[in-house]
Amino acid sequence: MPRVSAEAKKANDPVPPHTPLREYYRADEEREGYVMDLFDRTAKYYDTVEALFLNGGLLYRRLSLKFAGLKPGMRVLDVATGTGAVYRGAARLVGPSGRVFGVDPSAGMLAVSRKSHDGPLTRGFAQALPFKSDHFDFVTMGIALRHVPDLHAAFGEYFRVLKPGGQIWLLESHVPKSKIGHALTKLVWAKLIPGMTYLSTGSRDAKLLMDYYWDTIDKCVEPPQIVQALRDVGFADARSNLIVPGAFLEYRARKAV
Ligand SMILES: C[S@@+](CC[C@H](N)C(=O)[O-])C[C@H]1O[C@@H](n2cnc3c(N)ncnc32)[C@H](O)[C@@H]1O
Repeated sequence: MPRVSAEAKKANDPVPPHTPLREYYRADEEREGYVMDLFDRTAKYYDTVEALFLNGGLLYRRLSLKFAGLKPGMRVLDVATGTGAVYRGAARLVGPSGRVFGVDPSAGMLAVSRKSHDGPLTRGFAQALPFKSDHFDFVTMGIALRHVPDLHAAFGEYFRVLKPGGQIWLLESHVPKSKIGHALTKLVWAKLIPGMTYLSTGSRDAKLLMDYYWDTIDKCVEPPQIVQALRDVGFADARSNLIVPGAFLEYRARKAV
């Protein structure tokens, strides 16, 4: 029987990004269907919610990719591309000599994305990417890490599709651990933003998306566990950078040459 090293065994152990949220779905098997249905139903409101923040998130995504080293001519895979918030910034940075590919399992989100660009979009999951190995210079993922079923499975796929020397950039939400920081962040993300979302869209589904957002970020595993999961699948220089306390955190890592 072939021997399996301790490292390989560890990288195969599932790491769910958050504890189950029973107030939204009853059994773990229902989670994926619940998430897909939620994004399909709310796709038409997603950019309206982004506009509540004066589209500052779009600028932030683009600048942060630039600082992470995204350059003209690169081939990029934007996982969980949604309506294209990361895709559009990446396409500007790589220019006409580069190419951005978007992948997302929600047909609703992809249909909205198609309205703003004509680049390649594919249906697919982070944990089973429909792309060949050693193919991309950069893999990006904007605020979607909490939706994959297993961090090891998704990160293993990012590692596989990257060329040696390629990099990942993952944008995630940050919830401070201090009592006061947590209370303030909760006030903003669990009360203020779902309320503003309902007022501006008139949609209970759009408010539900923001309620779900808060619950997943509040229950998400801590940054050191995410960094460790990146290392477990083989990434070098894995680290997290806190950008805006109570809002954004980014993860970066590299596939060694
Ligand atoms: C909050 S949106 C993020 C969209 C965009 N990346 C951004 O920065 O705004 C989350 C996206 O994750 C997608 N998603 C959910 N489960 C996924 C999975 N297992 N693999 C890849 N994408 C997934 C959803 O369909 C949705 O489009």
